[in-house]
Amino acid sequence: MKLAQGAEAIIERTERGVKKTRIQKAYRHPDLDATLRKSRTKREAKVLARLEDITPRILSQNEFEIELEYVDAPLVKDALTEENAKELGRAIGVVVKQMHEKGVVHHDLTTSNMFATNPITLIDFGLAQFSDSLEDRAVDLHVLKHALAAKHPDLAVWESFIAGHKPEAALLERLVAVEKRGRYKNKG
Ligand SMILES: Nc1ncnc2c1ncn2[C@@H]1O[C@H](COP(=O)(O)OP(=O)(O)O)[C@@H](O)[C@H]1O
Ligand SMILES: [Mg+2]
Repeated sequence: MKLAQGAEAIIERTERGVKKTRIQKAYRHPDLDATLRKSRTKREAKVLARLEDITPRILSQNEFEIELEYVDAPLVKDALTEENAKELGRAIGVVVKQMHEKGVVHHDLTTSNMFATNPITLIDFGLAQFSDSLEDRAVDLHVLKHALAAKHPDLAVWESFIAGHKPEAALLERLVAVEKRGRYKNKG
């Protein structure tokens, strides 16, 4: 049974869990396409192994596929309400901090890539990197802040995220710099 189909991958239910298969892209040269799909699958598996406490367990893998433990919970995107926004926001802050402390940056932190479990479960590490850089971590925060503002404009999740994450001053300063750059870019 197909659970989800994104731009890059199909997620199907298996007997034991779910299988994420990176699909062929007709617009890419076949060799480049295969190389990209393999490297993203490998990257995702490597990062999942590093973050075992806050991600689904890997059950099996091959070049283009990863089979993961099924997470039996709603995505944060679907679970967020006015009542739980504070609590979930804090929990997201705690888990993103843990991820960064383990030297991983996600590069696509949105509420569609998190399950509302306790602690929060993170997924979708195809674009993630091993990095300790302030800049990379600030960009993660920037992406999440904008995803929250776009998808959940009526809920004050960001403030609770900050309370959970407790970013150091240097990281907050870098976030401000990243945001400034974003504004210049938009003005063209
Ligand atoms: N381990 C899992 N358990 C249950 N559902 C999952 C799991 N992994 C992914 N999904 C579902 O599939 C969707 C897409 O998975 P994701 O890894 O984010 O791929 P994509 O790159 O296509 O966004 C998720 O938003 C979620 O609904
Ligand atoms: Mg996703």
